[in-house]
Formats: sequence, C-alpha cells, structure tokens
Amino acid sequence: MCPLDSTQGFIMQFMANFKCNHTAHSVQEYFTTLRTLGFSQEFLREHELVFFPSFLSLQAAKDFAPFGEIGVQNAYPAFNGAFTGEIGAQALESMQVHTILIGHSERRSLLGESQECVAEKFAFFARLGFFIVYCVGEPLSVRQQGEKAVQDYLQAQFAGIDLEATRVSVAYEPIWAIGTGRSAIVQEIAQTHAFLRTLTQSPLLYGGSVNAGNAREILLTPNVNGVLVGSASLDAKSFHTITQSVLL
Ligand code: PGA
Repeated sequence: MCPLDSTQGFIMQFMANFKCNHTAHSVQEYFTTLRTLGFSQEFLREHELVFFPSFLSLQAAKDFAPFGEIGVQNAYPAFNGAFTGEIGAQALESMQVHTILIGHSERRSLLGESQECVAEKFAFFARLGFFIVYCVGEPLSVRQQGEKAVQDYLQAQFAGIDLEATRVSVAYEPIWAIGTGRSAIVQEIAQTHAFLRTLTQSPLLYGGSVNAGNAREILLTPNVNGVLVGSASLDAKSFHTITQSVLL
C-alpha cells in the first residue's frame, strides 16, 4: 500500500504519455536507461508504472520495458474493419495491449473528439476489459470563472461514461497546465480532486506540467493517487526522478 495515500487503499500510479515523441530506437534507449537507473522490488510492489508510447514505438516498448504496463494513447472503437488510418482492438490484443488513454484534451480539442465519440470509445474498450485512463480537464476561460464552473465543466465530461464498467483511473488535466510549464497549484488540485472523489472511488491522477521539482508536493495532495506526465516523462532520468520523489 502506498504510504502517501494509505487511507484510500490505492497504490501510486506513475504514467508517462510520450504523445507524438520518440522513435522505436529512442524508446529502446529510454528503457535501457530506465533499467540502469532501476526500481527496487519494494517500489514496484507498491507503485504502478504505465507508459503510453506512440503506435510505431509500441513493439519496442513491449520488447524493452523491463517493468510497467504499456498502453496506447488512442484507438478506434472497433475490433477491425474499413477504418483507414485507424488502429482497432484486434491489433492491440495481438500485441497483448489492454491499456488505453481516452479523452485526452489534445484529442478532444485538436482532433475534434466530441463527448459522444469519447464515450463510445470508453464503452467499447470497457466491454473488452481494457484498463482505461480517462482524462478530463477544463480550459483557462472556465478556470477563471471559479471552482463551481470547473466542476460543472468536468461533470459534463463524464456524460455517457460508466466508471464502474471496467478498471479505470481518472486523470484530471487542466488544459491550461498541459505543456505550459505552469502546473495547477496544490490548492486547485486539492479542491478539484475532492470534487472528483465525490463522483468516483477510482484512482485520481493529476496531469499538467508535472516535473521532478513539483511531483512530490502534488503526490502529497489529498485524493491524488498518481500523476500523468507528458513533457517531463520524455527523458528517462527525469521520469525516474519523478517516480522516486514519493520516497524522499
Ligand atoms: P505535460 O502533459 O506534462 O507536458 O503538461 C501532460 C499530458 O498531457 O498528459
């Protein structure tokens, strides 16, 4: 059990979202570095590591990750079929991939995924028993209207989502904190995670400019059961330091 959050009975989860970064070759180097840096058996028993490489690095990650779970950043909600340019569940299952990120703000805003589309993906992969990391988060204009507006916005992002349907972790990722170098402050995270806890008993992750300097403070925040890290996960040493910050 994680000593930092033993009251809720969750182990801490550390997730790396490589987004559209890294190649098969650099992913191999990444995991070689991570293996050299190492994780104690005790750490691996009490914490969970999940890596989301790009599709073209998936095989390299499966082959070279000495620990942790490998998931995908997206997939199409069909087993297979005439969906040009998409990856379906058959291909994922053939690679023993059963973990998926759904609802990331970059897919919602840059790639136009509506709540309906996100909910369809969620229901499809839940039916197949995938572990789903479900992302929610508000834009700056909503945050500026205060916590009640944030709560209403986040609540709407659970429309059509059955959090009981499979194993789920919910990642709160305020859009204004993603890739900006400006994380939410601890009070904002605490307040928003307390609200999310009223909606679900699933593990709650925070994401948005998490780095080696702020990870410990964020991980110590009530109702934070882990972190989803983008930019600072791209470097193996940096991600390793984040994972070890719980032990300081
Ligand atoms: P960031 O990205 O750590 O670069 O802010 C987080 C995410 O989008 O998952």
